[in-house]
Amino acid sequence: MTSSPQFSQEFINELKTLFTWRRDVRHFQSTPVNEKLLDQLLSVACTAPSVGLSQPWRYIKVETPTLRQQIYNLFKNCNKEAAQNYTSDQYKLYSNLKLSGLNDAPHHIAVFSEENPTQGKGLGRQTMPETTAYSTVMSIFSFWLAARAYNIGVGWVSILPPHEVKSILTVPEHWNFVAYLCVGYPQFQNETPELEQKGWEKRNPSRHKWIIR
Ligand SMILES: Cc1cc2nc3c(=O)[nH]c(=O)nc-3n(C[C@H](O)[C@H](O)[C@H](O)COP(=O)(O)O)c2cc1C
Repeated sequence: MTSSPQFSQEFINELKTLFTWRRDVRHFQSTPVNEKLLDQLLSVACTAPSVGLSQPWRYIKVETPTLRQQIYNLFKNCNKEAAQNYTSDQYKLYSNLKLSGLNDAPHHIAVFSEENPTQGKGLGRQTMPETTAYSTVMSIFSFWLAARAYNIGVGWVSILPPHEVKSILTVPEHWNFVAYLCVGYPQFQNETPELEQKGWEKRNPSRHKWIIR
């Protein structure tokens, strides 16, 4: 058995900085990320916890320009439609937000979750089938944090219709669409979420308090 690592206070402080400086990135430089480094990030994603050790995540690197363009077109349509749900001032603010880096990110990664994977033999998800999707989200967050440690930005795009994304990427019916990630080196870094900087929303301090029952 290998001995368990002890983490220093310095490491803990740096880890906290990593959490604080993880951002959703929508503005990317064109420089691609080294393929081996991307592979390493995927390996980190695969260390995530998963219900029954089912590892239900499926990561697709979308490299074909026409497929990427089709996804970007979908986003533009959905985003335009979403904007219509806001009135006057909010509509103006929404229309000025950049809500994806699909036009400039050097890497597009689509993440799916297998609905009923054989791996894990169903353990832990008989009363809560949605735990497979939760597991996939855990892996995405691991990918996201590991990427940030290498100064690589990740932006999660959810303004997309799952059924059409599945059809464009020709994935099996039982793979549920979870996230479309834009990945690359950010044009700039910030400690404050972009939606807060742009006046759309701000963090709520009451979320830092426990609810006691
Ligand atoms: C499930 C999920 C879906 C998201 N979808 C989008 C999206 O479609 N477009 C976007 O610009 N940001 C999206 N985001 C990023 C959030 O807007 C962002 O996390 C939030 O504003 C806080 O900023 P931060 O991640 O920089 O802390 C998404 C984040 C999550 C977790």
